[in-house]
Amino acid sequence: MKDASGIDDGTVLRASGLAKTFVLHTQGGVEIPVFAGLDFSVRAGECVVLSGRSGCGKSTLMRSLYANYRVDAGRIEIRHEDRIVDLATAPAHEILAVRRRTLGHVSQFLRVIPRVATIDIVAQPLRAAGIDAAAAERRAAELLARLNLPSRLWKLAPATFSGGEQQRVNIAHGFALARPVLLLDEPTASLDEGNRNVVIELIEEAKRDGAAIVAICHDHEVRNAIADRLFEMPGGRLAA
Ligand SMILES: Nc1ncnc2c1ncn2[C@@H]1O[C@H](COP(=O)(O)OP(=O)(O)O)[C@@H](O)[C@H]1O
Ligand SMILES: [Mg+2]
Repeated sequence: MKDASGIDDGTVLRASGLAKTFVLHTQGGVEIPVFAGLDFSVRAGECVVLSGRSGCGKSTLMRSLYANYRVDAGRIEIRHEDRIVDLATAPAHEILAVRRRTLGHVSQFLRVIPRVATIDIVAQPLRAAGIDAAAAERRAAELLARLNLPSRLWKLAPATFSGGEQQRVNIAHGFALARPVLLLDEPTASLDEGNRNVVIELIEEAKRDGAAIVAICHDHEVRNAIADRLFEMPGGRLAA
């Protein structure tokens, strides 16, 4: 995307003037302002870690960037194929197309789909992008093996897996298809050191491939390993 002087500065995702207030309709319409006038951007090959106290709105910003939450004001421009899409105003079918090809997301917890085998969950983003079933399964198996998920679990649905096993399925699903922008919400929170290091490697590989990464990450070692820059949330320094 072009900067103010018209030069393409490698920005692939740019939010400007974002505002989000939650309104609790079931609790007397209480309003919870989370942010307003927020500007944020990330370039290809760069990892930006969102920083600030618990409750300051990091997850809300990330879900807004993924268009899970509708913002009240502002633009969320993303470079999608050969054009710029504003996710703040894009229709649902366009948001889905951007997610399929351009914008990946690893949430804090796996949303388990009943009865779908782990290997198929991980292969699904590849098949949705048009990769043939055998190649998709090979890539899924490679990721699950790297993340030390025992192969006896691959044909099972992850509903009964431990928290750490589910999180590794979630990570494999998020990294299966190389996408230009990747959002990671606490990807290593429930992992042991060995698997944390695998996630650091996956992030480094994605950056080398030119991915722009936005992460929420409380683990200092992981943060130091992956962050090119910290983004201090507005209000993130206030006492809780
Ligand atoms: N779905 C929601 N509905 C209402 N309030 C919410 C919702 N999600 C988050 N909040 C509120 O918004 C604020 C920011 O939350 P969150 O983005 O989860 O913070 P962080 O990720 O930085 O810990 C908190 O005060 C939280 O209670
Ligand atoms: Mg959070």
